[in-house]
Formats: sequence, C-alpha cells, structure tokens
Amino acid sequence: MSDVTYLKSLLGVHPDFPKKGVTFLDIFPILRDPVAFETLITHLTHHILTSNNNIRPDVIVGLDARGFLLGPIIAMRLNCSFVPVRKGGKLPGSVEVVKYEKEYGTDEFEIQSGAIKQGQNCIVIDDLIATGGSASAAGELIKKSGGKTLEYVFIVGLPFLKGHEKLDAPSYWIVEAE
Ligand code: HPA
Repeated sequence: MSDVTYLKSLLGVHPDFPKKGVTFLDIFPILRDPVAFETLITHLTHHILTSNNNIRPDVIVGLDARGFLLGPIIAMRLNCSFVPVRKGGKLPGSVEVVKYEKEYGTDEFEIQSGAIKQGQNCIVIDDLIATGGSASAAGELIKKSGGKTLEYVFIVGLPFLKGHEKLDAPSYWIVEAE
C-alpha cells in the first residue's frame, strides 16, 4: 500500500459532526499509530524540502489547534522556528490581530509581534483546509509581520470548497476528500 493510501485509510470519518450535514475527517487515528505518524511527518517534510523551488523555509506557522501537533515536529526536522497562530486573547505580550469569517459570525487569529522577522519565508500548516478562512487569516498575519508565505500545507484538502483559491500562495494536501 502506498504511504498516501495508508494515511487515507486511517482518517476517521464522522457524518453529522459537529452538526448535521458536515462530515468530519479526524486525523487523530494517524497520530495514534506511531508508524503512520512517522510516515505523515516524513511525507510533509520531504514535500516542503522539494517544493517551492528548493527555497528553505525559515518559519513553520502552525494553526490553532491541530496545526500545533504537526508544526513543531516539522520545524525541528527542518531546523526552522515554530510560530503558533492562536485564537484571540490567548497569546501574551504584543500581538498582531486579524478577524476572519467563520460559518457563524467572525473569529480572531493572533500572532506574537516580532515572532516572524522581516523577509522570513514561512510555511503554514494545519490538518485540513475547508473554506480557507483560517489559512487566509494566517497568511494576512504573516504579511503584517513582514514575512512571506511560501506555501500552505495540509493533510486533507476539500478542493470543492475552493478554500485554496482565497490564498496568496500555493496549497498542498496529501489526501483529497470529496
Ligand atoms: N475535520 C477537521 N476540521 C474541519 C473539518 C473536518 O472535517 N471541517 C472543517 N474543519
């Protein structure tokens, strides 16, 4: 079985969660299996090293909350900084703020001021891209911080929702869901 088929076979599929009509794809079964988790991290690390015209990222930006489980491991493998983007009000000190649209109302994303230095190349990582609202807000925070987003990287893409079309850099996902 290919690595991609293996990872896809471990995704949890939960119809009508968290509400009716939504099918929730759960990455936690991958993290429970150490060989699958290793396969996942190696796949993403290899992708990042061989995409983007071989430009090495300086910073891996992980999105609240599941991006926090992937980003630090990849950052250490690539000798990059890890920087979290968190929901509003969680980060101490001076922060940059961006509001974004959710299904119901708006939410805020924040990044610590100075966490990204002028001109640093960044990779955004999260488990899944749906409508792209949170990834796009993270891209805005990176721009406000003076950084450049090389690529947005996910385990799962839902391309029919066209979230990737909102973004200011290419997207990559391992598994495509319909
Ligand atoms: N899984 C995880 N996060 C999500 C999903 C999903 O299926 N849909 C929107 N956010």
